[in-house]
Amino acid sequence: MRLDKYLCDMGLGSRAQVKAGIRKGLAQVDGAVCREPERKIAEGQTVAYEGRLVSYVETEYYMLYKPAGVVSATEDAKEATVLELIGERRRKDLFPVGRLDKDTEGLLLLTNDGALAHRLLSPRRHVDKVYYARVEGVVRPEFVELFARGLDIGDEKPALPADLEIISVNGEGLNGQALEAFSTRSEIWERSFQQADISEIRLTLREGRFHQVKRMMDAVGCRVIYLKRLSMGPLKLDQALKPGEYRPLTEEELRKIKEL
Ligand code: URA
Repeated sequence: MRLDKYLCDMGLGSRAQVKAGIRKGLAQVDGAVCREPERKIAEGQTVAYEGRLVSYVETEYYMLYKPAGVVSATEDAKEATVLELIGERRRKDLFPVGRLDKDTEGLLLLTNDGALAHRLLSPRRHVDKVYYARVEGVVRPEFVELFARGLDIGDEKPALPADLEIISVNGEGLNGQALEAFSTRSEIWERSFQQADISEIRLTLREGRFHQVKRMMDAVGCRVIYLKRLSMGPLKLDQALKPGEYRPLTEEELRKIKEL
């Protein structure tokens, strides 16, 4: 690989900037100043720029706990982007794998591995994406079946079958088996829809349409007021991360997503 590309890939400036820097004598190859941007760097050679060693990293993978208020883009004229949160990144060509809305929180993978991103996002692979949501409205037990059949959300095709789990309605927790008991509890059942009704759900999707969770909940008369992605395929949001924090993927996580 050419020296200017090497330095540019590692985020030391644009191609024109690093070329100028190299010509000024800022780069060293194996300890000797090199003023030729086109010099080929072979494996095992050391490269330094402005006195600092620059090792080459081919691919990077970061798990970010995306906070609300930043956009899932590589650059934006007005808004802060998820990329600006990855202070440690080496590669300048990182991008988010898929998008979360500006007001959505949770798991976001950032990488420069295009082939992996393509596999994770491919509509044919149906990689599970699990979301936690708080919604205005009562999520009724019969919605579970509607979601499992594939909901019409106004697109050409209905949504793929999705797993809806009701966690609570107006603070009343359900624990899976309690679903039937809940459906006979008239004090919750018979309430007419009110703005003040709040339900908590977990929803597993196998595709990634625009605003999909919000549109599915809208289709049953509920409005998402908080949305967080918990997992994507085998990748689970690390509980130790706080909104805005990130870490590189572990070997184990990488192995699992590469197996997809
Ligand atoms: N569904 C949504 O509605 N928004 C997201 O950010 C992700 C899934």
